[in-house]
Amino acid sequence: MPVVDVKHVALVGFMGAGKSTLGRRLAGRIRAALTDVDADLEDQFGPISDYFEKHGEAAFRTVAESAVTDALSRGTRSVVVLGGGAVTSAATRRLLADRATTLWLDVDVDTCWARVRGSDRPLAQHHDDFERLYDERRPLYADVADAVIRDDDDAVLAAADVHVERGALRCLGELVPGEGAVALVSDSHVAGIHGVDAQLALGHRLAETHELPAGEEAKTLAAVDHLWQELRLDRTGTLAALGGGCTTDAAGVAAATYLRGIAWVPVPTSLVAQVDAAVGGKTAIDLPQGKNLVGAFHWPARTVIDPALLGTLPAEQRREGMAEVVKTGLLAGEPLWELPDDELVRRCAAFKAAVCLRDPYDRGERKILNLGHTFAHALEAAAGYEGVTHGRAVALGLLAALRLSDRDTAPVEELLRPVPVRVDRERAWQALQRDKKAVGGEPRLVLLGDDGPRVDVPVPAADVRRALDELIAG
Ligand SMILES: NC(=O)c1ccc[n+]([C@@H]2O[C@H](COP(=O)([O-])OP(=O)(O)OC[C@H]3O[C@@H](n4cnc5c(N)ncnc54)[C@H](O)[C@@H]3O)[C@@H](O)[C@H]2O)c1
Ligand SMILES: [Zn+2]
Repeated sequence: MPVVDVKHVALVGFMGAGKSTLGRRLAGRIRAALTDVDADLEDQFGPISDYFEKHGEAAFRTVAESAVTDALSRGTRSVVVLGGGAVTSAATRRLLADRATTLWLDVDVDTCWARVRGSDRPLAQHHDDFERLYDERRPLYADVADAVIRDDDDAVLAAADVHVERGALRCLGELVPGEGAVALVSDSHVAGIHGVDAQLALGHRLAETHELPAGEEAKTLAAVDHLWQELRLDRTGTLAALGGGCTTDAAGVAAATYLRGIAWVPVPTSLVAQVDAAVGGKTAIDLPQGKNLVGAFHWPARTVIDPALLGTLPAEQRREGMAEVVKTGLLAGEPLWELPDDELVRRCAAFKAAVCLRDPYDRGERKILNLGHTFAHALEAAAGYEGVTHGRAVALGLLAALRLSDRDTAPVEELLRPVPVRVDRERAWQALQRDKKAVGGEPRLVLLGDDGPRVDVPVPAADVRRALDELIAG
């Protein structure tokens, strides 16, 4: 997954846009190294205004160009903040195209001017010159930008190759990276609702269309085998997956394995998939022995999220998604569930994207995303995966996690209205113990602390058992 490992994130934009501040926060959030090119040059040569005066602008551009080249040649992923004029160099523009996901922090000229007026910045001495330069530079930023961003979440999403925009489905042809052929794989039910729009949007790039059975049936070897055999793409092609989390999980497995792996673009249509399943590069199918047992990490070339598609989602599917939204809000420590749809999806997807960029292979911190899920999986397993939906089980699991964390359970009770399920208590307890390898008899859970989520918290078995029992009716 080179996308995650070595593609740098470059920040461009006019002086005064706030690149340095945002770059510092972004590097922290996605845990990448930070190079602030102009700040480093000032450390090395003193104030840029002095350098301009002594050596002229051209000489400054030359040293800046070589500093950018060094920063973008690093072997580990870093956030590189470029000076406002760096994009005037054709060599820098080429390098950005090759080695970075380039984000344009687009801020209006008045805001920029208000921030830099009165400073010693050589190109910010006269308002009219400043405005003229702003207008001159805009096309250059637009030319190098892979994404236009306005805040931290936009930056995280772009760094993770996630595009969230109402109406994005209609631009799918341009949003699928590259020029190659596209195979559209849709949930058979969703195909009847949004399939034609997706096909029209792909236009001449659409080479083939395929369907997967709706729901969990897609996540079977039989369904993926059928898809493998139908696919005609060569290695330059891209698989686009239109549907809920089952479709994106199964199509993702096909993309990860067909011809040893081709590019793919999930286009999630359910709330679960928009805030969770289609972000982070995990793909999987089920085995009779359990869910998600076979799959691969396969980071999408881009995830295209169109919140407008939620307009056709049935209410019970929306409730499924709200369980993950509440989980995300609890983890983020913000009531994200109160936001209108577009913002809710953008913020939740950004939260998950940041966690996955910090831990792309699920070796540590990504475990926080399992908040409430130890209990949920136990209840689902005890029900034989029938009758208890994942969302309902997660709502109960969150309740247990909040109780064990000594937190207010109101958000979960009011929003998700969890109702205890009728399953065999012993069977649920057995399943929970199998799910969580207990260390010294104490299960380890994700809980919420004062400073945010904590993983691997040892909890006495008797307390866990009691919390589980409270979720079971009868
Ligand atoms: N890979 C991951 O990181 C990850 C994370 C969370 C969940 N998942 C997986 O996601 C799956 C659940 O996803 P899901 O809840 O989206 O289920 P799903 O894909 O079965 O979709 C739910 C139902 O909604 C319908 N639907 C979807 N979008 C619609 C729309 N816009 N309009 C009308 N109907 C629509 C589908 O046809 C289906 O019947 C599970 O298998 C789970 O394991 C994966
Ligand atoms: Zn879940």
